[in-house]
Amino acid sequence: MHFTRRSVLAAGGALVSAPVLGIARAHAAPSSAFPPGFLWGAATAGHQVEGNNTATDLWLLENLEPTAFAEPSGDACNSLILWPRDLDLVRQLGLNSYRFSIEWARIEPEPGRFSTAMLDHYKAMIEGCRERGIMPLVTFNHFAAPRWFAAQGGWLRSDAPDHFARFCERAARHLARDVGYAMTLNEPNLLLLLRSLGLPPAMWEATRASLAAAARACGTGRFVTANVVDLDDVDAMQPILLACHRKGRAAIKSVRPDLPVGVTLAVADDEAVGKDSLRDAKRAELYGAWLEAAKGDDFIGVQNYERARWDARGRLPPPPDARRNDMGGEVHPPSLAGAVRYVHAATGLPILVTEHGVGSDDDALRAELIPAALAALKSAIDEGVPVKGYLHWSLLDNFEWVFGYRRRFGLVAVDRSTFERTLKPSARVLGGIAQRNAL
Ligand code: BGC
Repeated sequence: MHFTRRSVLAAGGALVSAPVLGIARAHAAPSSAFPPGFLWGAATAGHQVEGNNTATDLWLLENLEPTAFAEPSGDACNSLILWPRDLDLVRQLGLNSYRFSIEWARIEPEPGRFSTAMLDHYKAMIEGCRERGIMPLVTFNHFAAPRWFAAQGGWLRSDAPDHFARFCERAARHLARDVGYAMTLNEPNLLLLLRSLGLPPAMWEATRASLAAAARACGTGRFVTANVVDLDDVDAMQPILLACHRKGRAAIKSVRPDLPVGVTLAVADDEAVGKDSLRDAKRAELYGAWLEAAKGDDFIGVQNYERARWDARGRLPPPPDARRNDMGGEVHPPSLAGAVRYVHAATGLPILVTEHGVGSDDDALRAELIPAALAALKSAIDEGVPVKGYLHWSLLDNFEWVFGYRRRFGLVAVDRSTFERTLKPSARVLGGIAQRNAL
């Protein structure tokens, strides 16, 4: 055995404390407590909960024919008005953080024209969080963008990063002071993941037709959005999104250098199956450039909903006995910890789980998933992965993009006509863990 001053001192400490504690220190089981100050929260995004986000690119797509959307977002959860009720729910559950997004189209409805009233609205939300002891985590862009931006080529424009950075700078000047964590873009790698799923060609055709209808309505050649994207544009958009993240980050930092800024990524827990698995090549394709770019960030947001098993030929279907979400995907509780371990190993960055959840009408599944996934996450933390917090997707049943309101991810149900909020049992499960800061 190799003795150092440190190990002798540590052994001495153990001799003194072991009889007192009645346990052998070296064999103590890891406690179920999460690190002090761990962030427990829920997440939403402006377009999915606010309602009447009429100046956005997506609003136009939702309300034209043909459309890729099952239904329009309409009033959503009316959180533009009811946000204090949402924050009261967060506090009532004992959560100490809330992730939400600010809507670029409300703040800059016409190019270069910024709305002080809408900036004040988001400022009130941030202050409303602080008054309730909730840390606000703010996403600067969660997919929806101004219609004028999409009509001018959106996220494919070579000057998109300048437009996005101008918005970030203006918003940060008004809002950054009391923000806890800032995220530039939400899941800019999402389309890479969707492409890897081999979705039916009809889905991509519906997307193309929807975008063409919007371009016609605006009298422009193309209409380009972040999450409803022509398959042919997926690769070309990536370097522009990377530049948007870098410039957006610099803009926010120029206002508040000490504010932690990062990006959130959609990350499956990719497993290699058998010989010559495609797993590592797929990881490089789906996350590689972003994990590299994130190395200059303060943290990275991990958003996980599933695992992906890759053999030498491609992605395998879920095992026959798998639990399934309402989209037919596998629900695999350890997937969150797997994604977190991978992203930390690849970047060395602190991790914030900015989304994790399940689209299911069966809340019992959600209530089981949360503690099971957190137990595995706790093991990753015990192994030394610095995880700062866990934010569940989502606080509310909300507008699930092209699927409309049929897919439900909320801890809280929302009545579509009265907007009444009702806690589901899973909300109390997460709230209990948050209040104990332990499983
Ligand atoms: C997005 C959310 C979405 C959720 C569930 C993530 O891709 O950031 O906006 O609602 O997953 O599909």
